[in-house]
Amino acid sequence: MREIEVNRDGHLVFGGADTVKLAEEYGTPLYVVDENYIVERCREIKSAFMDKYPNATAVYASKALQTIDVCRIVTREGLGLDTVSGGEIYAALKAGADPQKMVFHGNNKTKEEIKFALENNIGRFVVDNLYELVLVNKTAAELEKTASIQIRITPGVDSHTHKFISTGNIDSKFGISLKKEDRNEVIKYALDAANIDLKGFHFHVGSQLMDNEAHLMAMDIILGLVKDVREELGFVTKELNLGGGFGVRYVDGEETVRLEDFTDGMMGKINRFCEENGFELPMVYIEPGRWIVGNAGITLYTVGSIKTIPDIKTYVAVDGGMPDNPRPILYQAEYESVVANKAASKANKTVSVVGKCCESGDVLIEKTELAEDLESGDILCVFTTGAYNYSMASNYNRIPRPAMVMLKDGKARLSVRRETWEDLILREI
Ligand code: LLP
Repeated sequence: MREIEVNRDGHLVFGGADTVKLAEEYGTPLYVVDENYIVERCREIKSAFMDKYPNATAVYASKALQTIDVCRIVTREGLGLDTVSGGEIYAALKAGADPQKMVFHGNNKTKEEIKFALENNIGRFVVDNLYELVLVNKTAAELEKTASIQIRITPGVDSHTHKFISTGNIDSKFGISLKKEDRNEVIKYALDAANIDLKGFHFHVGSQLMDNEAHLMAMDIILGLVKDVREELGFVTKELNLGGGFGVRYVDGEETVRLEDFTDGMMGKINRFCEENGFELPMVYIEPGRWIVGNAGITLYTVGSIKTIPDIKTYVAVDGGMPDNPRPILYQAEYESVVANKAASKANKTVSVVGKCCESGDVLIEKTELAEDLESGDILCVFTTGAYNYSMASNYNRIPRPAMVMLKDGKARLSVRRETWEDLILREI
C-alpha cells in the first residue's frame, strides 16, 4: 500500500483524486488505477535497469493487469509486453504494442495461438517443453517463418521453500528439466530445427518475492547451464530472461523493495560470469508485473450490511468480494483498507470485511480496524488491488465485473465500463 492522503473533507485522496467523489460519479465496486504511478514505475525500471546496464530490457507481465489503456501506457514508456495467451496478444496488438517487443509465454500454447503469434511477428516465444518446441517449429515451417525462442528451464529453486531445496527434481509444470540428457535433447532439437532461432534461456522463480535470494540461486543455476551448453553443444547463449516476481508492499509492516535490490545482484553475477568465462554480455530481460501495477490500484466498495455477533465478531459486507478480488480466497492474501469518506476518523472498530457471494470463504480482510463511526453506505477503499484483481475477476454468482477508472494527474476517465446483467448472458444461445 501507499501512504494515506486525506483532504479537508476527511476523504481519502488517491492519485490526486477524491475517492468519495469517484465512487459517487462512477458507482461501486470500482477499480481505480493511477496512471502516474505506472509511469513512475516504468521510469524507475528504465533508470535502475534498462539505462543502467548495457543490453538490459524489460517486458511488462501484462497478466497482472491487462487493459488496452495499461498496455498503451507501458508501451509509450518504452517497455515491451509479456503475454501468455492468444487473447493477451490480441489485446496488446489492439493497444498498438510493438510485436517485436512482445514475449509469448505459456506451458501449453495451442497451435492456433502459435500461428497467430507467428503471423503477427511476436518477438520471442518462451518455449516451455519439447512438445511445444516441435509444434512451434512445424507451425513456423508451414508459415515460412522463423520463431525466435528462449527455452524456459526449471531452475530447481522453489521460492517458498528455497531454503530447503536447492537442487534436484522440482515439481513444476513449467520449463524443461536440467538433467543433462533432458535439456540437451531439447536444446539440440532447437539448434537443428530449420525454423527455430534459439536465443537463450528463461527462468521465473515465483511471484511476490520480497528478497532476491531465490533469484540469485536461479542465476547461478542458469549461468552453470550457459557454460555447460557451450562446452557440450557449442551453443553460445545470446539472451537470458530472468522473469518477474518482484514483490510489493501490501500491508503495514512490509517493506517496499526497490527494483535494484532484486536486479543489481543478478546483473553483478552475469557480469562477473561473462568476464571470467569469456562470454559477451547477453541481452538480459526482466518481466515485472505486480511491481509496476500492484500499488497503482485500489478498489472502492460501498458498505452494506453490518452484522455484529456479540463476543465473536462484526461482519462488514461490501458490494463486491471474491469475484473482483479472488486473491484472499486463493492465496490467503492480506490487504489494508480504510473508510474513504471517514479517512480522518479514528480507526478502532475491529471487523471482518466480507463480500456478497454465497460462500463463507468470501472474506476480503479477515481482521482489520475501521473507522469507529462506520455505518452502512460508507465507501470502503481496499489498497494494492492493481495486480491480479481485474485480470483474475470472475462473474461468480452472476455478479457483473466492476468498472475501472484511470487517473491521470488526479483527473479520472472511464477505462473499462461496468458490466451489465445483459453482458452476463450475451454469449448464451
Ligand atoms: N514472468 C512469468 C513467466 C510469470 O509466470 C509471471 C507471473 C511473471 C513474469 C510476473 O510475475 P510478477 O512480477 O507479477 O510477480 N495470481 C498470482 C500471481 C501469479 C503470477 C504468475 N506468473 C497472485 O495473484 O499473486
